[in-house]
Amino acid sequence: MSITNNLTEYGFISKIFHWLSAAVLIIQIPLGFYLVDMDFSQKRLTIENIHVTLGLSIFYLTLLRLIYKAFNPTPALRNSIFPGQKVIAKLNHIFLYIAVLIITISGALKKLYNGEKLDMFFFNLEIKDNFELAELFYEIHIIGNYTLIALITLHIFAVIIHKVLFKENLLKRIL
Ligand code: HEM
Ligand code: HEM
Repeated sequence: MSITNNLTEYGFISKIFHWLSAAVLIIQIPLGFYLVDMDFSQKRLTIENIHVTLGLSIFYLTLLRLIYKAFNPTPALRNSIFPGQKVIAKLNHIFLYIAVLIITISGALKKLYNGEKLDMFFFNLEIKDNFELAELFYEIHIIGNYTLIALITLHIFAVIIHKVLFKENLLKRIL
């Protein structure tokens, strides 16, 4: 396996980016839903800190992944089995990136407009509170999450459909 991508295969770096993002998201989505159902307590604060730290990590990871993608070829998709298939696959990938960015940015803005300081790892952020905007960004955070769940479901469903119906093992490309 090569380190970087070429026009036919994903390299090691892309594979690490993919599975690290997937692993963190698989923890982060249920953690967010668990968090909102908790009463105020020390444990809740700890879980919220973990949620924010993981969320900001995914944000930076996604930025790095997109910068890397910009300077590295993306392996071509196979020939379409049905019309529009490549377009759907491409759109699915683009919307996955957009959903992750919208969720992380809206989560950060929700906290900032709530009047809370945010440690962004390399610098601190603080802005004037505005509870209406905090509420709006929280709504975006929630809608973003349901959209991401739908996109991930579609993404995994496509891999299964390819295997079952078209006898094509897409997983091999990213493993
Ligand atoms: C991709 C990364 C993230 C995912 C998948 C995610 C997911 C979630 C989910 C599912 C909820 C529960 C929503 C609900 O049903 O009410 C939630 C709540 C929340 N998230 Fe995130 N989140 C992410 C990143 C972030 C980031 C980066 C921040 C802040 C910097 C953040 C701050 C919050 C806050 C403050 C809440 C509400 C907790 C409360 O006060 O009840 N999230 N998140
Ligand atoms: C168990 C879960 C997952 C499986 C089985 C899976 C499988 C795959 C496969 C087979 C590919 C290669 C598709 C191709 O080029 O033909 C791929 C690419 C991709 N996956 Fe996943 N994936 C999973 C989870 C996720 C998650 C959670 C995300 C959310 C960010 C994600 C985002 C992407 C993106 C953006 C690409 C395209 C890479 C690029 O070219 O930029 N995947 N995935």
